[in-house]
Amino acid sequence: MTNLPANHEEALEYEDWAGEMGARWLANLTGFEATILPAGEILLTHAAYQQGERVVDIGFGGGATSLAIAQAVAPGGEVVGIDISPDLVAATTRRAAAAGIDNVRFICADAATVTLADAAFDRLCSRFGSMFFAEPVPAFANLRGLLKPGGRINLAVWGPPLANPWMVEGMAVARRHVELPAPAPRAPGPFAFEERDYMADVLAAAGFHNVEIVAATGTLPVGGPDATPEQAQAFVRHALSFGQVLRAHPPQVQQAVAAELTELYARHYRPGDGVMMGYSIWLVSANA
Ligand SMILES: C[S@@+](CC[C@H](N)C(=O)[O-])C[C@H]1O[C@@H](n2cnc3c(N)ncnc32)[C@H](O)[C@@H]1O
Repeated sequence: MTNLPANHEEALEYEDWAGEMGARWLANLTGFEATILPAGEILLTHAAYQQGERVVDIGFGGGATSLAIAQAVAPGGEVVGIDISPDLVAATTRRAAAAGIDNVRFICADAATVTLADAAFDRLCSRFGSMFFAEPVPAFANLRGLLKPGGRINLAVWGPPLANPWMVEGMAVARRHVELPAPAPRAPGPFAFEERDYMADVLAAAGFHNVEIVAATGTLPVGGPDATPEQAQAFVRHALSFGQVLRAHPPQVQQAVAAELTELYARHYRPGDGVMMGYSIWLVSANA
């Protein structure tokens, strides 16, 4: 059940989080965090972190969830963030200091293999930072080793592409103009765990128990609640991976895609709310 497809290695080339992608997440951080805020709120409500808990945040990005959890577990609790991008670790360390939040620290490491001298933790968390492992079963087994026996992991991962029009409708526009890499089922990337049963199998094979996976759906503001259709298309072309592919094409192709994206987003624009489009995530939890 946990076999990976042959084009898995190719997909990894598009997930260079230690390099270009980490830098791109940072460059577009405000838009990314505002776009996925609804998913983060649902995850943190579902996980219900408590005062005094020690929590690891996996693939913390710009640290929005780490900082929120650090405040929820204070006093007495702490958060350790692990991210593979040195750019994000440096920026997020500065962000925490500027916010005066001192029960959080950030480590640059691959979560698939990291060891922490001060394990074991009560809880693990990740909002969209756990779908990029080349070999998910040993990676999750390693993460389980950071938890104390019975400790709980809470993840948000994207559901199926067709249930996430906020991402795939823009890609469909681009595909009408340029060739994009074919989707590779279960390969590292946003939709690695779109299949609920596969996610459950990976966690069970990694030694987790009591695996629970429930869907959460809603709408999110593409580019953030302040973004107009024009700003949403600019965010998507700069921030999402298919936008990077477009950059290799002539200006007239890019302009045609930009115009069609703006039309798409105008159909979903609600002044005051933003470009509101559907999303679907799996809320995943399990015990070590
Ligand atoms: C889609 S972003 C999510 C960021 C953040 N969790 C959030 O929701 O704002 C994915 C994050 O996972 C990190 N990441 C990817 N692979 C990783 C790995 N093997 N170990 C640690 N972090 C990783 C990336 O650098 C990036 O910050």
